[in-house]
Amino acid sequence: MSTVSASDPFIGIQTDFLPLLGTDYVEFYVGNAKQAAHYYKTAFGFQSLAYAGPETGVRDHVSYAIRQNKLTFVLTTPLRAGNPVADHIYKHGDGVKVLALSVDDASKSWKETTTRGATSYMEPVRLNDADGEVILSGICTYGETAHVFVERKNYKGCFLPGFKEWKTMYNPPSTGLLYVDHCVGNVGWNQMNNWVKFYEEVMGFRNILTFDDKDISTEYSALMSKVMSNGNGFVKFPINEPAEGKKKSQVEEYLDYYDGEGCQHVALATSNIVDTVSDLQARGVEFLKIPTSYYDELLQRVGKIDEDIEPLKDLGILVDRDHEGYLLQIFTKPVEDRPTLFFEIIQRKGAKSFGKGNFKALFEAIEKEQELRGNL
Ligand code: FE2
Repeated sequence: MSTVSASDPFIGIQTDFLPLLGTDYVEFYVGNAKQAAHYYKTAFGFQSLAYAGPETGVRDHVSYAIRQNKLTFVLTTPLRAGNPVADHIYKHGDGVKVLALSVDDASKSWKETTTRGATSYMEPVRLNDADGEVILSGICTYGETAHVFVERKNYKGCFLPGFKEWKTMYNPPSTGLLYVDHCVGNVGWNQMNNWVKFYEEVMGFRNILTFDDKDISTEYSALMSKVMSNGNGFVKFPINEPAEGKKKSQVEEYLDYYDGEGCQHVALATSNIVDTVSDLQARGVEFLKIPTSYYDELLQRVGKIDEDIEPLKDLGILVDRDHEGYLLQIFTKPVEDRPTLFFEIIQRKGAKSFGKGNFKALFEAIEKEQELRGNL
């Protein structure tokens, strides 16, 4: 495995042609946005933020924006068949459509990326209302997923023009989720390096970590992964592809059920993973279970950590260390009936890596679930 710290100064960073301020929002196309919004509020602790639909002049879909600290999710459902949102859900089921990125200049971001070979998803468009102006543009990435560039420096509204504030009496408290740490894409056989090249050439990202099939394999299945980061390290997109093993790779199962490439998981950061995961479990979020033998040699492997082992063991939280510190992480089961999108909850204590020391235990847990579905 080759390792380059995300904090290392990038060669040529002064020429970063696509400066990103961070993740602006994640938009999911779902079968029933009203119920999905209720789920994310109730189970994950999001709050109502904004709404767009027939009442605001949108005729063919509805969108609910929900927020928790710096995390914004948008849940979108078509109101009838025969439009791109409906077609997307018919093919892929519920999933991530847009990974939106905050920028200072959405027009320049579109121009810089499309002239470097990106396919346009949306030409720059100015949206105005009484609260100011937002400029959006977008490019296509793997599968039918898109990156939308959001320029909102001249806007003081709650979300975007076209949305109205969504007020409700039902406001479950936060679970302590803070921001998007990283978003992982699953791509097809032998496609990882093409997408690495796309993020390098089109978006100016750099490959900061590489995992080959020897790093990420169990007795049965394998995958390969490369982590792409933008210049300031605020945006990280690991890219996975399946690798040959005795049995079916989890990435292959995803590609089968998503019917193509797409976002595998979104990692959500917390500053207190024990409290956050206790709360999420109490609210019904289901997590992958790791055998308790994982904890027998944990301290020998990762050294001294601030947390007591017992609560980590009770909750199933995993720990890994790199040369900069350690991290704690746990993975939900898929959040829809297809075995596709799931979430990671992560707390970083110095570590900038992705939990390589946990891969084996984690993938064995995923395989157990795959086997139950008859897909291993
Ligand atoms: Fe992750």
